[in-house]
Amino acid sequence: MDKLIIKGGKKLTGEVSISGSKNAALPIFISTLLAPGLHEISNVPFLRDINTTIKVLESLGGAVQGNGNIVSIDTSNINSVEATYELVKTMRASVLVLGPLLARYGRARVSLPGGCAIGARPIDQHLKGLKALGAEINLSHGYVEATAKSLKGARVNFDMPTVGGTEHIMMTATLAKGDTIIENAAREPEITDLAMMLIAMGAKIEGAGSDTIKITGVKQLSPVNYRVMPDRIEAGTFMIAAAITGGDVKIKNMQLGDIDALIFKLLDTGVEITNKNGVVKVKGPKRLKSVNIKTRPYPGFPTDMQAQFMALMSVADGASVIAENIFENRFMHVSELMRFGADITIDGRSATVKGVKKLSGAPVMATDLRASASLILAGLAADNTTEISRIYHLDRGYESIEKKLAALGADIQRVKE
Ligand code: EPZ
Repeated sequence: MDKLIIKGGKKLTGEVSISGSKNAALPIFISTLLAPGLHEISNVPFLRDINTTIKVLESLGGAVQGNGNIVSIDTSNINSVEATYELVKTMRASVLVLGPLLARYGRARVSLPGGCAIGARPIDQHLKGLKALGAEINLSHGYVEATAKSLKGARVNFDMPTVGGTEHIMMTATLAKGDTIIENAAREPEITDLAMMLIAMGAKIEGAGSDTIKITGVKQLSPVNYRVMPDRIEAGTFMIAAAITGGDVKIKNMQLGDIDALIFKLLDTGVEITNKNGVVKVKGPKRLKSVNIKTRPYPGFPTDMQAQFMALMSVADGASVIAENIFENRFMHVSELMRFGADITIDGRSATVKGVKKLSGAPVMATDLRASASLILAGLAADNTTEISRIYHLDRGYESIEKKLAALGADIQRVKE
């Protein structure tokens, strides 16, 4: 296993280019199951989760060329409707193949994803939506077995705005007979990106990005070429890297509007953010001010930026209260940040961070994808050396992050453990 070695205290300067979005690419890849033929997806990041999604599509009979930047996917000869536990437990988003297989073949057998480090993450809302569309669902031996003679449009009202649930029902409803209305839909930009791909394939979708989405079923969809949106969480992570090191970094290929809640909070901490012909410049202040955050569904503060923001607040002036309202166990990074000397106390779903003057480098362990990013950020700001182990978590969602940071002047290297 690899680990990262960081010698902290360097101000980051220069320019970084943001890769394609993991959380847009995964459902976009899976949506190719809805239309037989050759799809070409571009701006695809080189990530472990992309490789896993490719393995899932190939296990179903899909033919895939490439694993990053440009990836072609031919779903003409799907010859299986089963996604195994081995694949789904590696990446829970694989469960999204259920609906498209049902829509195209009338049946599917997909492993339940099980929990992960940040929470139980059930898929009850996904199954509620598929049942509303007419699917017969039964759970046995850890698998969801679903059949549907034909799918009919329906009203689906989610108990909470679920990103995966919204993507799942939106994709499946494109081939159902009649209209589907999704109420209390999630509004994340990745959902809009998926909707744009589906519409390019011939789907009829209105309201993606709002809390009510209307899908009018069509007979069939056709394969397309599609470019994935930039990764807004990678962009936010680099903004915080500039802020926490007191650096001055230019960020290219990011969509500013996708993370407004984060940007407003960064401005409140005293970070300077300017946007000049599509290049976002981020300048960290001498001393950061503490601000409170509450994670919320989009357009609220993104839960995927909570751990990174906590690293930033650990060296700010004053105390910051961070409430994690989306996942029940997304504070795994706290104990690791405390090894740097961060002063953090947890009370249920909120953590109070008292800023310290300086963090000191330490050996730490990554526990999940975004926690790994927060440890890197702390290591960049800390003095002396930090070693981060179990960075396979990081490789799931960040494309060559140590190379991009080194190009900005960070003293960071990946070594074999
Ligand atoms: C997506 O996960 C993202 N993953 C997550 O990013 C992100 O943190 C999350 O949305 C929230 O923004 C991908 O897009 C691949 P949810 P998802 O369904 O779809 C509960 C990362 O770091 N819920 O919006 O699984 C659930 O337990 C990852 O890139 C149910 O109760 O998230 C959670 O509390 C981590 N029943 C809340 O809803 C359901 O059927 C939001 O989950 C579905 C969800």
